Amino acid sequence: MIARLAFGPDGAFRAARKGHVVIVVDTLRASTTVTTILENGGRGVVPAATVEEAKEKARELSSSGGCVILAGERGGLKIPGFDYGNSPLEFTRKVVEEKIVVLTTTNFTRVVQQAADAPLILAGCLRNAEAVAGLARREALRSGRKITVVHSGRKGEFSPEDYVTACIIKCLIEGVAPPSHEECVLDSPSAKSLAALGLWEDVKYCSQLNVSATVPVMKSGAFVRGL
Ligand code: MLT
Repeated sequence: MIARLAFGPDGAFRAARKGHVVIVVDTLRASTTVTTILENGGRGVVPAATVEEAKEKARELSSSGGCVILAGERGGLKIPGFDYGNSPLEFTRKVVEEKIVVLTTTNFTRVVQQAADAPLILAGCLRNAEAVAGLARREALRSGRKITVVHSGRKGEFSPEDYVTACIIKCLIEGVAPPSHEECVLDSPSAKSLAALGLWEDVKYCSQLNVSATVPVMKSGAFVRGL
């Protein structure tokens, strides 16, 4: 089985229009954060492209009785007035269990929104690479659909850490040996920006390969835990 690679919001849009299973990758940090929230018992993660949209979605969900956390970053930092930022380490079981998290980030949530027409959207990162590859492969075999792994990039620019993660997931889907990732991730401009904000622990956490069996699957506008 062959998996395709695509880049950024446009790549996600085109793959979705073709009816592919779409895996969206934002290694540092959003797809890792979504995986962690669900792994730690979060009920769902609702992506929002903008700050206003996130606030609006959080208001709607709260007024219909949900226990909601408003989270997100701009420039890597927590958005003023939000409950949490986008650090996966913030979302412990104590914080997220049984909660719905509305999340807006600079790149990932916009890419996910562009993939909205896809029959299946999954969130992939290094931590769940093997698990997301397995689920996508099973779904592609069952449905006869093709798979595209989208590396989100950073404000329209190529990001080595997203590209290498997408390549690893592609290789795992195809059953070939994946490339090594440490140097690409740890030396990336995104890693350096996070380090400058004192968030190097996030980079180390996001760099761990195949340590999570949790696969975020989009259902009715929210990522939930897949099988
Ligand atoms: C994003 O989606 O743009 C990133 O996850 C940014 C970040 O590191 O918070």
